[in-house]
Formats: sequence, structure tokens, C-alpha cells
Amino acid sequence: MRTPLVVGNWKMNGSLSDNLSLLQKLTSQWQAAAVEMAVCPPAVYLAQAQALLAGTSIQLGAQDASQHSSGAYTGECSVAMLQEFGCQFVIIGHSERRQYHAESDQLVAEKCLAIKASGLTPIVCVGESLAEREGGATLAVIQRQVQAVLDHVGSEQLAGVVIAYEPIWAIGTGLTASPEQAQEVHAAIRQQLQALGASTRILYGGSVKAGNAKELFAMADIDGALVGGASLIAEDFLAIGTAAAQ
Ligand code: PGA
Repeated sequence: MRTPLVVGNWKMNGSLSDNLSLLQKLTSQWQAAAVEMAVCPPAVYLAQAQALLAGTSIQLGAQDASQHSSGAYTGECSVAMLQEFGCQFVIIGHSERRQYHAESDQLVAEKCLAIKASGLTPIVCVGESLAEREGGATLAVIQRQVQAVLDHVGSEQLAGVVIAYEPIWAIGTGLTASPEQAQEVHAAIRQQLQALGASTRILYGGSVKAGNAKELFAMADIDGALVGGASLIAEDFLAIGTAAAQ
């Protein structure tokens, strides 16, 4: 039995006052015990979010972490630092990091190992571009991204990892993979993970909204969502969480 998980990726959005209002709405209204909910604010707001989420059932995550434990890495945060602020999840390998920060499959795998070693849960993002999908390369691209993590971390160490399938062409575009398109990739990822696959949560991400969440969650291998834009609106994020409970 895989408990559904719905994670909000705030990206580079928010302010002290916006976060306060959003988190107050989420914590006062979220009720469904059968679903895990988490938010991933920008790192500078982790202390604020930690304080506001204390004692609630909404968990906290970060949007990235360094593969290193400390040292001369300007601008980076280590996993231990994120842990001090109550993070349970760390998103890694988001396509925006792969694209704008040239993060490679190998680097994502190293980050995954560092996060697992600290006892936090990595949310490893994978996804194909539109050109790759149109060229028939979707499953090969996803397999390559997943395999890099499997090879580096080892399947035993990977237990508890979360995978997020986010087709790049669906992120922030309003285009969503159809439930069938997403299911095909999720099933392939689960198969690739072999014995680990049955217990691994595989989230879908890419323009998930209150209006399309339910049909996505109805698919056998979709265990929740990584939500960008809609996670900034309390009513929408709560509705997506509620859809995961049904
Ligand atoms: P979106 O972003 O929901 O705004 O498409 C999803 C993501 O990039 O994680």
C-alpha cells in the first residue's frame, strides 16, 4: 500500500507575508489523514515555514541540496542544514535545475546518495523534452535518468525514494500529459526499479490542477503529484490533496 503524496514546489515564489497567509490556510484546512502533504519553499523561507508547520500534518521539503556535506561551495545548502530546518523531503533533478544549472544525471545521482545517507527522502525528478517525446525517445530518456540513480545509489539504499515524472513540455505550460501517457511512463519506471518498484511512490508533475488531478490519480501507478503553480493557491492545492485521498 503506497500512501499518496502531494508535494508543492513553490519554485522562486513567495514572500514572508504571502507565505504566512498560504501556510495558515493550508494548516487550518487540511484534514485528509490518508494523504501526505508537503510544501517546498525557497531555502530562505524554511525557518518561517518550519515554525508555521510545527505540530501540523503538513511536511516540509527543500527544492535542492548540495551533494557535498560542507565547504567552499558558495550559494549551496547541505542536506544537514536542510535537516536542521525540519525538511523531510528534498527535490532533486528538477528539469529547471538540469536545464539552467547544467545538472547532469551523475550529479543528480550524487545528490540522491547524500540525501539518502542523511535519512531524508529525495524526490528525484525525471522527464523528457517535447522533441524527445516527438522523436519517440521518451522511455529511453526516462530509463537513462532513473538508471543513473540506481547505479550510483544501489537499489537497496534507494528504498523510500520518491520519483517524480515531469514531462518538460507539461511544466508550467498548461499542457498535461494525458492520464494514459503518464501511466505508461510510471509503469515503465516501476518495472525498471524491479523489486523496489512495488513500494516506491511515483508522482506525476506538470500542470497538475484541481480540475485534472482526479483522473491522473485514478491511474494504477500514479501515487500523487509534484505541483508547481497550483501549489501557490491554497484552495487549489488543498483540492489536489483531497483528490489524492479518493
Ligand atoms: P507546474 O510545475 O505544476 O507549474 O507545471 C510543476 C513542477 O515543475 O514541479
